[in-house]
Amino acid sequence: MNYQDILVSNEEGIVTLTLNRPDQLNAVNSSIMHSLYSFFTEDYKSIEGFKGVIITGSGEKAFAAGADIKEFLAVADDSIPFVKKGHNTYFAIENFHKPVIAVIKGYALGGGLELALACHMRLVNPKTKISFPEVNLGLIPGYGGTQRMSQLIGKARAMELMMTTDMIDANQAVQYGVCNRVVEDDEIMPTAKKMIAKIASKGPVAVKHIIKTINAAFDESKNGFDIELQAFADLMQTKDFEEGVKAFMEKRKAHFIGE
Ligand code: COA
Repeated sequence: MNYQDILVSNEEGIVTLTLNRPDQLNAVNSSIMHSLYSFFTEDYKSIEGFKGVIITGSGEKAFAAGADIKEFLAVADDSIPFVKKGHNTYFAIENFHKPVIAVIKGYALGGGLELALACHMRLVNPKTKISFPEVNLGLIPGYGGTQRMSQLIGKARAMELMMTTDMIDANQAVQYGVCNRVVEDDEIMPTAKKMIAKIASKGPVAVKHIIKTINAAFDESKNGFDIELQAFADLMQTKDFEEGVKAFMEKRKAHFIGE
Protein backbone atom coordinates (compact mmCIF):
# COMPACT_ATOMS: atom_id res chain seq x y z
CA MET A 1 0.00 0.00 0.00
CA ASN A 2 1.73 3.08 -1.22
CA TYR A 3 -0.46 6.15 -1.35
CA GLN A 4 0.27 9.70 -2.37
CA ASP A 5 -0.49 12.07 0.55
CA ILE A 6 -1.32 9.30 3.06
CA LEU A 7 1.24 7.45 5.20
CA VAL A 8 0.33 3.90 6.21
CA SER A 9 1.76 2.08 9.21
CA ASN A 10 0.78 -1.25 10.68
CA GLU A 11 1.48 -2.21 14.28
CA GLU A 12 0.27 -5.73 14.98
CA GLY A 13 -2.79 -5.31 12.78
CA ILE A 14 -3.65 -1.79 13.99
CA VAL A 15 -3.32 0.31 10.86
CA THR A 16 -2.69 4.06 11.08
CA LEU A 17 -3.53 6.20 8.07
CA THR A 18 -1.87 9.60 8.42
CA LEU A 19 -3.07 12.38 6.11
CA ASN A 20 0.25 13.78 5.02
CA ARG A 21 -0.03 17.30 3.62
CA PRO A 22 1.05 19.25 6.71
CA ASP A 23 1.99 22.39 4.73
CA GLN A 24 -1.62 22.49 3.47
CA LEU A 25 -3.02 21.56 6.91
CA ASN A 26 -3.83 18.09 5.53
CA ALA A 27 -6.66 19.44 3.37
CA VAL A 28 -8.48 16.48 1.84
CA ASN A 29 -7.70 16.52 -1.88
CA SER A 30 -8.80 14.08 -4.62
CA SER A 31 -5.73 11.97 -4.12
CA ILE A 32 -6.44 11.50 -0.38
CA MET A 33 -10.09 10.76 -1.14
CA HIS A 34 -9.17 8.18 -3.75
CA SER A 35 -6.64 6.48 -1.44
CA LEU A 36 -9.15 6.33 1.43
CA TYR A 37 -11.71 4.81 -0.93
CA SER A 38 -9.19 2.19 -2.13
CA PHE A 39 -8.17 1.33 1.42
CA PHE A 40 -11.66 0.93 2.88
CA THR A 41 -13.16 -0.92 -0.10
CA GLU A 42 -10.29 -3.15 -1.22
CA ASP A 43 -6.76 -2.72 0.09
CA TYR A 44 -7.48 -3.65 3.73
CA LYS A 45 -8.16 -7.21 2.55
CA SER A 46 -4.43 -7.91 2.24
CA ILE A 47 -3.66 -7.05 5.90
CA GLU A 48 -3.02 -10.06 8.10
CA GLY A 49 -4.30 -10.07 11.67
CA PHE A 50 -6.17 -6.87 10.90
CA LYS A 51 -7.72 -5.26 14.01
CA GLY A 52 -8.84 -1.76 13.05
CA VAL A 53 -7.86 1.65 11.75
CA ILE A 54 -6.75 4.99 13.17
CA ILE A 55 -7.04 8.04 10.92
CA THR A 56 -4.98 11.05 11.94
CA GLY A 57 -3.20 14.06 10.47
CA SER A 58 0.48 14.83 10.06
CA GLY A 59 1.94 17.67 12.16
CA GLU A 60 0.60 19.36 15.26
CA LYS A 61 -1.66 21.95 13.67
CA ALA A 62 -4.44 20.03 11.97
CA PHE A 63 -6.24 16.74 11.53
CA ALA A 64 -7.52 18.28 8.28
CA ALA A 65 -8.53 21.90 7.64
CA GLY A 66 -11.23 20.94 5.18
CA ALA A 67 -11.62 19.63 1.69
CA ASP A 68 -8.98 21.13 -0.59
CA ILE A 69 -10.52 24.49 -1.51
CA LYS A 70 -7.90 24.92 -4.24
CA GLU A 71 -9.51 22.04 -6.19
CA PHE A 72 -13.05 23.41 -5.93
CA LEU A 73 -13.19 25.74 -8.96
CA ALA A 74 -11.95 23.02 -11.32
CA VAL A 75 -14.81 20.68 -10.38
CA ALA A 76 -17.63 23.25 -10.30
CA ASP A 77 -19.09 22.11 -13.63
CA ASP A 78 -18.95 18.44 -12.73
CA SER A 79 -19.62 18.59 -9.04
CA ILE A 80 -22.02 15.65 -8.59
CA PRO A 81 -19.44 12.86 -9.21
CA PHE A 82 -16.92 14.82 -7.10
CA VAL A 83 -19.27 14.96 -4.12
CA LYS A 84 -20.52 11.42 -4.72
CA LYS A 85 -16.97 10.10 -4.43
CA GLY A 86 -16.75 11.80 -1.02
CA HIS A 87 -20.09 10.30 0.02
CA ASN A 88 -19.09 6.82 -1.09
CA THR A 89 -15.71 7.02 0.62
CA TYR A 90 -17.16 8.24 3.90
CA PHE A 91 -19.97 5.62 3.72
CA ALA A 92 -17.28 2.95 3.30
CA ILE A 93 -15.62 4.21 6.50
CA GLU A 94 -18.87 4.54 8.44
CA ASN A 95 -19.96 1.01 7.51
CA PHE A 96 -16.51 -0.58 7.83
CA HIS A 97 -16.60 -3.89 9.70
CA LYS A 98 -13.65 -3.09 11.99
CA PRO A 99 -13.38 -0.11 14.37
CA VAL A 100 -12.20 3.17 12.84
CA ILE A 101 -11.04 5.89 15.26
CA ALA A 102 -10.18 9.48 14.31
CA VAL A 103 -7.29 10.92 16.33
CA ILE A 104 -7.70 14.68 16.02
CA LYS A 105 -4.91 17.10 16.93
CA GLY A 106 -5.68 20.71 16.13
CA TYR A 107 -8.11 21.82 13.44
CA ALA A 108 -10.80 19.50 12.08
CA LEU A 109 -12.77 21.71 9.72
CA GLY A 110 -15.26 21.28 6.90
CA GLY A 111 -14.51 18.17 4.83
CA GLY A 112 -11.85 17.16 7.38
CA LEU A 113 -14.42 17.25 10.17
CA GLU A 114 -16.78 15.27 7.94
CA LEU A 115 -14.09 12.60 7.58
CA ALA A 116 -13.79 12.43 11.38
CA LEU A 117 -17.58 12.22 11.69
CA ALA A 118 -17.63 9.20 9.37
CA CYS A 119 -15.29 7.36 11.76
CA HIS A 120 -16.87 5.29 14.54
CA MET A 121 -15.21 7.25 17.37
CA ARG A 122 -13.22 10.43 17.79
CA LEU A 123 -10.43 11.30 20.26
CA VAL A 124 -9.28 14.92 20.42
CA ASN A 125 -6.27 16.66 21.92
CA PRO A 126 -6.71 19.80 24.08
CA LYS A 127 -5.82 22.08 21.13
CA THR A 128 -8.59 20.73 18.91
CA LYS A 129 -10.95 23.16 17.24
CA ILE A 130 -13.80 22.06 15.02
CA SER A 131 -16.07 23.99 12.71
CA PHE A 132 -17.95 23.98 9.45
CA PRO A 133 -16.71 27.09 7.58
CA GLU A 134 -18.42 26.20 4.28
CA VAL A 135 -20.95 29.07 4.21
CA ASN A 136 -17.95 31.44 4.19
CA LEU A 137 -17.29 29.98 0.72
CA GLY A 138 -20.93 30.15 -0.31
CA LEU A 139 -21.21 26.38 0.13
CA ILE A 140 -22.56 23.81 2.57
CA PRO A 141 -20.84 20.73 4.04
CA GLY A 142 -21.12 18.24 1.17
CA TYR A 143 -19.53 15.03 2.46
CA GLY A 144 -22.37 14.05 4.80
CA GLY A 145 -21.69 16.69 7.45
CA THR A 146 -25.20 18.17 7.47
CA GLN A 147 -26.58 14.70 8.21
CA ARG A 148 -24.01 13.17 10.56
CA MET A 149 -23.53 16.29 12.67
CA SER A 150 -27.30 16.71 13.10
CA GLN A 151 -27.56 13.06 14.17
CA LEU A 152 -24.81 13.57 16.74
CA ILE A 153 -25.70 16.90 18.31
CA GLY A 154 -29.30 17.63 17.34
CA LYS A 155 -30.91 20.14 15.04
CA ALA A 156 -30.54 23.41 16.97
CA ARG A 157 -26.81 23.06 17.62
CA ALA A 158 -26.13 21.81 14.08
CA MET A 159 -28.03 24.79 12.64
CA GLU A 160 -26.00 27.19 14.79
CA LEU A 161 -22.62 25.62 13.98
CA MET A 162 -23.20 25.48 10.24
CA MET A 163 -24.85 28.88 9.83
CA THR A 164 -22.50 30.87 12.08
CA THR A 165 -19.30 28.85 11.27
CA ASP A 166 -18.31 29.33 14.93
CA MET A 167 -15.48 27.10 16.11
CA ILE A 168 -15.90 24.94 19.19
CA ASP A 169 -13.01 23.64 21.26
CA ALA A 170 -12.15 20.13 22.46
CA ASN A 171 -14.16 20.24 25.68
CA GLN A 172 -17.22 21.63 24.00
CA ALA A 173 -16.94 19.03 21.23
CA VAL A 174 -17.06 16.32 23.89
CA GLN A 175 -19.84 18.04 25.80
CA TYR A 176 -21.89 18.28 22.58
CA GLY A 177 -21.32 14.57 21.88
CA VAL A 178 -19.31 15.12 18.68
CA CYS A 179 -16.20 13.51 20.17
CA ASN A 180 -15.65 10.73 22.68
CA ARG A 181 -12.99 12.29 24.90
CA VAL A 182 -10.11 14.73 25.24
CA VAL A 183 -6.71 13.05 25.61
CA GLU A 184 -3.31 14.71 26.17
CA ASP A 185 -0.93 14.69 23.18
CA ASP A 186 1.45 12.02 24.44
CA GLU A 187 -1.41 9.66 25.32
CA ILE A 188 -3.76 10.13 22.40
CA MET A 189 -2.28 7.57 19.95
CA PRO A 190 -1.61 4.95 22.67
CA THR A 191 -5.22 5.42 23.86
CA ALA A 192 -6.62 4.87 20.36
CA LYS A 193 -4.42 1.78 19.92
CA LYS A 194 -5.52 0.39 23.30
CA MET A 195 -9.16 0.88 22.33
CA ILE A 196 -8.69 -1.02 19.07
CA ALA A 197 -6.71 -3.81 20.80
CA LYS A 198 -9.46 -4.13 23.40
CA ILE A 199 -12.18 -4.36 20.73
CA ALA A 200 -10.06 -6.94 18.86
CA SER A 201 -10.25 -9.21 21.91
CA LYS A 202 -14.06 -9.37 21.62
CA GLY A 203 -16.12 -11.45 19.18
CA PRO A 204 -15.29 -9.99 15.74
CA VAL A 205 -18.60 -11.01 14.14
CA ALA A 206 -20.47 -9.44 17.06
CA VAL A 207 -18.43 -6.21 16.70
CA LYS A 208 -19.26 -6.13 12.97
CA HIS A 209 -22.96 -6.44 13.83
CA ILE A 210 -22.71 -3.71 16.49
CA ILE A 211 -21.46 -1.31 13.80
CA LYS A 212 -24.19 -2.40 11.39
CA THR A 213 -27.07 -2.20 13.87
CA ILE A 214 -26.06 1.14 15.39
CA ASN A 215 -25.68 2.63 11.90
CA ALA A 216 -29.15 1.30 11.07
CA ALA A 217 -30.57 3.49 13.85
CA PHE A 218 -29.60 6.52 11.75
CA ASP A 219 -30.75 5.19 8.38
CA GLU A 220 -34.38 6.01 7.70
CA SER A 221 -34.57 3.44 4.91
CA LYS A 222 -33.93 0.66 7.43
CA ASN A 223 -35.78 -0.83 10.36
CA GLY A 224 -33.05 -1.02 12.98
CA PHE A 225 -35.09 -3.25 15.28
CA ASP A 226 -35.53 -5.85 12.52
CA ILE A 227 -31.82 -5.67 11.71
CA GLU A 228 -30.97 -6.12 15.40
CA LEU A 229 -33.31 -9.11 15.66
CA GLN A 230 -31.77 -10.83 12.64
CA ALA A 231 -28.21 -10.03 13.74
CA PHE A 232 -28.89 -11.50 17.18
CA ALA A 233 -30.32 -14.68 15.62
CA ASP A 234 -27.38 -14.97 13.19
CA LEU A 235 -24.86 -14.51 16.00
CA MET A 236 -26.44 -17.34 17.97
CA GLN A 237 -25.46 -19.66 15.10
CA THR A 238 -21.77 -18.70 15.22
CA LYS A 239 -18.84 -20.64 16.64
CA ASP A 240 -17.85 -17.46 18.49
CA PHE A 241 -21.14 -17.49 20.41
CA GLU A 242 -20.56 -21.13 21.37
CA GLU A 243 -17.02 -20.28 22.48
CA GLY A 244 -18.08 -17.13 24.37
CA VAL A 245 -20.69 -18.96 26.42
CA LYS A 246 -18.39 -21.96 26.98
CA ALA A 247 -15.57 -19.67 28.16
CA PHE A 248 -17.97 -17.94 30.58
CA MET A 249 -19.07 -21.30 32.04
CA GLU A 250 -15.47 -22.48 32.33
CA LYS A 251 -14.40 -19.15 33.88
CA ARG A 252 -11.70 -18.53 31.28
CA LYS A 253 -10.97 -15.98 28.53
CA ALA A 254 -12.75 -16.64 25.23
CA HIS A 255 -10.70 -17.36 22.10
CA PHE A 256 -12.75 -16.08 19.19
CA ILE A 257 -12.04 -17.15 15.62
CA GLY A 258 -14.40 -14.75 13.86
CA GLU A 259 -16.79 -17.42 12.64
N1 COA B 1 -7.88 23.86 1.34
C1 COA B 1 -6.74 24.16 0.72
N2 COA B 1 -5.69 24.70 1.35
C2 COA B 1 -5.81 24.95 2.65
C3 COA B 1 -6.99 24.66 3.37
C4 COA B 1 -8.06 24.08 2.64
N3 COA B 1 -9.21 23.72 3.25
N4 COA B 1 -6.83 25.04 4.66
C5 COA B 1 -5.58 25.55 4.75
N5 COA B 1 -4.97 25.49 3.54
C6 COA B 1 -3.61 25.92 3.20
C7 COA B 1 -3.50 27.44 3.11
O1 COA B 1 -3.97 27.89 1.86
C8 COA B 1 -2.03 27.61 3.31
O2 COA B 1 -1.36 27.27 2.11
P1 COA B 1 -0.27 28.25 1.43
O3 COA B 1 0.83 28.30 2.45
O4 COA B 1 0.11 27.52 0.17
O5 COA B 1 -0.93 29.55 1.22
C9 COA B 1 -1.68 26.54 4.31
O6 COA B 1 -2.71 25.58 4.24
C10 COA B 1 -1.61 27.05 5.74
O7 COA B 1 -2.83 27.69 6.04
P2 COA B 1 -2.92 29.18 6.65
O8 COA B 1 -4.27 29.71 6.31
O9 COA B 1 -1.75 29.99 6.24
O10 COA B 1 -2.82 28.84 8.20
P3 COA B 1 -3.40 29.71 9.41
O11 COA B 1 -2.84 29.14 10.65
O12 COA B 1 -3.20 31.17 9.16
O13 COA B 1 -5.00 29.47 9.37
C11 COA B 1 -6.99 28.11 9.19
C12 COA B 1 -5.51 28.20 9.65
C13 COA B 1 -7.44 26.67 9.36
C14 COA B 1 -7.85 29.03 10.08
C15 COA B 1 -7.10 28.56 7.72
O14 COA B 1 -6.14 27.83 6.97
C16 COA B 1 -8.44 28.32 7.07
O15 COA B 1 -9.39 29.05 7.33
N6 COA B 1 -8.53 27.29 6.20
C17 COA B 1 -9.71 27.00 5.42
C18 COA B 1 -10.76 26.33 6.27
C19 COA B 1 -11.99 26.05 5.46
O16 COA B 1 -12.67 26.90 4.96
N7 COA B 1 -12.28 24.75 5.35
C20 COA B 1 -13.48 24.27 4.73
C21 COA B 1 -13.22 23.72 3.39
S1 COA B 1 -14.53 22.60 2.96
